[in-house]
Amino acid sequence: MSAGKIAFAVTGASGALYAVRTLAELLARGVHVELVVSDYGKRLLRDELGDEASIEKLVPYLAAKYGDKVNAGVLTVHSNRDLGATIASGSHSCSAMAIVPCSMKTLAGIAHGLSRNLVERAADVMLKEQRRLVIVPRETPMSLPALRNMVLCAEAGAMVVPAMPAFYQLPRSLDDLADFMAGKILSALGFEHDLYPAWTGQVGS
Ligand SMILES: Cc1cc2nc3c(=O)[nH]c(=O)nc-3n(C[C@H](O)[C@H](O)[C@H](O)COP(=O)(O)O)c2cc1C
Repeated sequence: MSAGKIAFAVTGASGALYAVRTLAELLARGVHVELVVSDYGKRLLRDELGDEASIEKLVPYLAAKYGDKVNAGVLTVHSNRDLGATIASGSHSCSAMAIVPCSMKTLAGIAHGLSRNLVERAADVMLKEQRRLVIVPRETPMSLPALRNMVLCAEAGAMVVPAMPAFYQLPRSLDDLADFMAGKILSALGFEHDLYPAWTGQVGS
């Protein structure tokens, strides 16, 4: 049985590692990921992870970093300028969408229903169809407009999952921090995972 389709966006906020870790987990579960990356999201992937993580090389990059199990899924890449792409329509069968990381600009566009590009339009589709939309904003400090835009998105039905990894799982590496955020995003999308140990009531146990 197919693991279904999930829309996934990468925009130009810091935290490319969260995006690739989450993508790898979705693909490893056999999900058909419909990916759209903004122009600054493309720059982010290259700047933070290197040229080998650019869109054209993304699947081999994920396989090299996280293992061949990523080949269980399907990755379809859409242009952010293509407002006629499948995920721009509510009739398409994507059950959920995650935006990892989400810039304050894209957050504002979603909060105000602007649909200026495919990321914003696909997010608007999730809201209008009352499907799960997971927004992973990253900025610090946060301006009042950004805070208000998060509230608007939450009021519209989105799940706001800020890129705020915890330290109670005693991370030893950046990958441990990325695992934590990817786990939170997978949970928000409705997937089980073992990317970080469940809280036992005590740090480090
Ligand atoms: C290296 C770099 C890091 C950035 N980090 C952030 C960030 O963490 N959060 C944010 O909201 N914008 C950040 N920006 C600014 C956004 O990329 C910029 O507002 C862009 O227009 C967002 O467009 P997009 O949402 O279409 O990707 C960063 C830009 C650069 C070049």
